[in-house]
Amino acid sequence: GATLDTNAYVDILKSRFSVIAQYVVKCLNTYNLCVIDGFLGEVTGKEILGEVNQLHHLGIMQKGQLVHSHASTSASDNIRGDVITWVDGRENICENIQYLVSCMDAVVKNCSSLLEGYTINERTKAMVACYPGNSTGYVRHVDNPNSDGRCITCIYYLNQNWDVRRDGGMLRIYPEDTETVANIEPKFDRLLFFWSDRRNPHEVLPALRERYAITVWYYEAEERARALKKFKGELSNHPKKQAVPLFNGSQDNS
Ligand code: OGA
Ligand code: OGA
Ligand code: MN
Repeated sequence: GATLDTNAYVDILKSRFSVIAQYVVKCLNTYNLCVIDGFLGEVTGKEILGEVNQLHHLGIMQKGQLVHSHASTSASDNIRGDVITWVDGRENICENIQYLVSCMDAVVKNCSSLLEGYTINERTKAMVACYPGNSTGYVRHVDNPNSDGRCITCIYYLNQNWDVRRDGGMLRIYPEDTETVANIEPKFDRLLFFWSDRRNPHEVLPALRERYAITVWYYEAEERARALKKFKGELSNHPKKQAVPLFNGSQDNS
């Protein structure tokens, strides 16, 4: 009949994340990065965009910081031009963002078991970022140059009808040991994975239209433990350095 079998549906979702993870691991091992288009579909993608717009219009987003720099705000303006806020899922307007992060977690959990030598069971909160469209971007950098524990960068893009020739805002990755660059358009409902360390220097080219993305960094357990020892409590001051366990579908995450 037409009754909805919820358990069967959950099983289908789980197997989809496991298939995606197999593809992600293959791409990471071959190209250092992986692009998945149509990750959640148009309806859910629009719900997420609605929440991000709300966050932006609340006026709570602040200039992106630089972890290892005490430079003045005007100096960091020349490095990155985005405004950001951190979401941990407890905010009441962020249900769909929380759903997105739980889906990222499901993929990465599956990746962890396929990636030899990597144990991934923690991540940062989600960073919601907006480049305001005043021709700022983010200069070439490596997310984790100093073994702070971050292993995989995962970015979900939210920009409908984005035309890089008109709107700019390309993410350009320069994977180590190749002559080729990867030009990633920040397209709606696109999910991107790449190694956070020196294997992937990257830059955001100047954006001429509001450009939205949600980023989560996944920690590798051993490197994270070594970093915590090395930097003592220092790490925990920065929101990016506060670890959250991966979402566990079988329990309430609040
Ligand atoms: C931040 C940030 C640079 C980095 O503080 O929000 O992104 O990648 N810093 O560590
Ligand atoms: C970052 C970053 C890339 C993007 O925030 O560290 O590189 O495409 N963002 O938004
Ligand atoms: Mn980066």
